[in-house]
Amino acid sequence: MWQGKKLILGVTGSIAAYKSAELVRLLVKQGADVQVVMTPEAHQFITPLTLSTLSRHPVLTEISTDATWHNHVQLGREADILLIAPATAHTLAKMASGLCDNLLLAVYLSATCPVTVAPAMDEDMWFHPATQTQLDKLAAHGVDILEVNQGELASGLLGWGRMMEPADIIATLQERWITPTHQFQGKKVLITAGPTREPFDPVRYISNYSSGKMGFALAKTFAWMGAEVQLVAGPTSIMPPHHPRIHLTRVETASQMKQACQHFFPESDITIMAAAVADYRPQQIATEKIKKHENTLQLTLEKNEDILLALGQQKQPQQWLIGFALETHHDATLAMEKMQHKRLDMIILNSLDEPASAFHHDTNKISIFDRFGNEMHFPVKHKSAVAHDIAMALLRLMQA
Ligand code: CTP
Repeated sequence: MWQGKKLILGVTGSIAAYKSAELVRLLVKQGADVQVVMTPEAHQFITPLTLSTLSRHPVLTEISTDATWHNHVQLGREADILLIAPATAHTLAKMASGLCDNLLLAVYLSATCPVTVAPAMDEDMWFHPATQTQLDKLAAHGVDILEVNQGELASGLLGWGRMMEPADIIATLQERWITPTHQFQGKKVLITAGPTREPFDPVRYISNYSSGKMGFALAKTFAWMGAEVQLVAGPTSIMPPHHPRIHLTRVETASQMKQACQHFFPESDITIMAAAVADYRPQQIATEKIKKHENTLQLTLEKNEDILLALGQQKQPQQWLIGFALETHHDATLAMEKMQHKRLDMIILNSLDEPASAFHHDTNKISIFDRFGNEMHFPVKHKSAVAHDIAMALLRLMQA
């Protein structure tokens, strides 16, 4: 699969640089031609000798050495992929700002091939708004940003920020750039994710436990399969996926989510409402913080508009509309009623009586029903695998 592919591996100064050796070894084993470009700082973490031995090419660091000038433009133009792994917060910030004080940055700025970065840093650095702003900028520049893993960090703390494992990086690159699937190429897909928040004073709101993981996994899957994704997400603590074909709109309340959906829906070929939209909102929002003078507090709630129902009413024959049904018990009849009532093409049932399912879990157990009477039942799977099952079920339905 990697035979004849030329990959530039940029290595920056992070403790995760020791994993670059494994990356090079696995890539070369699979037939890739790997040219390593290190930043000067990376030399403190892994020797160029190790990487040149494994890659069978001299490692490059300087723009010129003695009388030799390394043509960064040629490097960036000849490669099939530029992968920067590990990518430190510092290098990411420099890339986002267009700074160019080493060979790797010069190669990046000249690259005409896809660029993928595998960030590695401590959790606080990862979540710092400055880092996230740089990542957003890089995503807007078309850089493909791999997720970070959770686990033990160089600081000794546990948290987010570990570089993705080499084998997973290679599998992801393969899927995205080496053997991309194009089943949804040219399709515009609207996906909602996460909860909504309904405020009742300036500091309080009602909401639900939705994490956004299912909607984010769907966005990633459809982008990988070639679609342009409009991702409308409520407030989540996990980061939405970065991908050049995922365009994020953040919203807070159900009414903001409705507005965003109404905006994107007419242009969408496929719409998937994975968000857990709050059914009710407080009728009054106090302008000042409510004081605790009384022993009880009564809130009057009024119904939010059902976004999916409204979209079903506007749906054109060439559009595909998919909803979720979250039920306390596995109740296929209720799910199918929802599908009919909201004029959906497909509904995905997940039940709260399945312990590995639904809110804040990484796994989900679903059943899919479509308007032609087909039904599919799946075992517990990771949400990314569930997203793939949903995409494939939709594909079959669209091709039927
Ligand atoms: N949904 C929506 N707008 C709402 C409520 C729900 O678009 N105000 C969507 C959800 O995104 C989901 C589907 O409707 O795709 C079903 O949501 P669910 O909470 O299971 O059911 P409801 O239709 O809200 O009905 P109930 O809560 O009575 O089960």
